Amino acid sequence: MADSPRGSETILAQAATLVRPLVRSRVHTLPPGIRHVAGLHFGWWTDDGTVLEAPPVSKGVRPALALLACRAVGADPYVARAAAVAVAVELVHNASLLHDDVIDQDPLRRGRPALWAAKGVPAAILAGDALFFAAVQTLAEAPDAGRTVPVLLAAVQALIEGEYLDTLMESGTDVSEDRASAVAAGKTGALLACACELGAIAGGATEGRARLLHGFGRRLGIAYQCIDDVLGIWGEEPVTGKPALSDLRSRKVTVPVAAAMAGYTPQARSLRALYSANGPMGEEDYTRARALIEQTGAREATLRLARRCTADALHLLDQVRPEPVAAAELAALADLITHRDH
Ligand code: FPP
Ligand code: MG
Repeated sequence: MADSPRGSETILAQAATLVRPLVRSRVHTLPPGIRHVAGLHFGWWTDDGTVLEAPPVSKGVRPALALLACRAVGADPYVARAAAVAVAVELVHNASLLHDDVIDQDPLRRGRPALWAAKGVPAAILAGDALFFAAVQTLAEAPDAGRTVPVLLAAVQALIEGEYLDTLMESGTDVSEDRASAVAAGKTGALLACACELGAIAGGATEGRARLLHGFGRRLGIAYQCIDDVLGIWGEEPVTGKPALSDLRSRKVTVPVAAAMAGYTPQARSLRALYSANGPMGEEDYTRARALIEQTGAREATLRLARRCTADALHLLDQVRPEPVAAAELAALADLITHRDH
């Protein structure tokens, strides 16, 4: 174990070196048809079976958090049980993205066609199901399954609820800033919380410390989603690997949109009118919506919320009395999450 804290890029790279091959071996246990489409999603091979040497990869924030949470409670993060929880959260994350792209009808993920766009909706739904159950199986076969599996299952229920509330917001039902924060807490906070809690459990943490790390991850997850929502409006497609303005195209009421709609300014009124108009919006409507949101100050307000959640998260982390190197590295990851451009 290094005794001085690593930078965030190194933390993510080293976590990926450990976790990626394990994710791949787990996916290899799936039956051949679904294994093939799951591998297409991960970018491991093309549809004709050509193996890709440098697939576009996920940032791996969730597994890195799990490993660091394990170390934060004083345990060696390279024990098999920590690796198992890191693999499980990465599998659930990918399962949720497969389903999310179907729900959002977003044709691009990590700069490549989303699985549903390449192979159809049934393939994407079933690959997501397979990855989700592979995650449960990973924990079920690892030590402490009686404690870890319920934590993962509860997180997935919260994820589903968050995603469902998100779809209601899209259809204009019950739009509010609180609702948008609840969506962020559900669809992203829940899995980051779970990653941290499972990492702590793998490290033999007491219930109390595991709960604190859960709280740390949850708040960090809300910050993560706030930044994701900002990138969903102002991000650039070549950098994010997702379609530019995609959240506006689908009239998503994300955190900045809800904040912009909340006021009584002319811009807020115009934005509400744009969102509630019948018929499709055109290119100039999207750029107008983006400008209106910016003018209300909602972009800055969302970034402030992200910073506040990160500060709250770090405050909870302090209460864990974490091992100092892990604490510094978790803070580095928190900083990366709040300052990323993709
Ligand atoms: C991305 O949001 C969506 C999520 C992080 C959660 C999606 C959750 C589900 C589909 C339910 C859980 C399902 C399973 C199988 C575990 P976004 O659309 O804002 O982000 P994006 O811009 O990356 O698409
Ligand atoms: Mg989406």
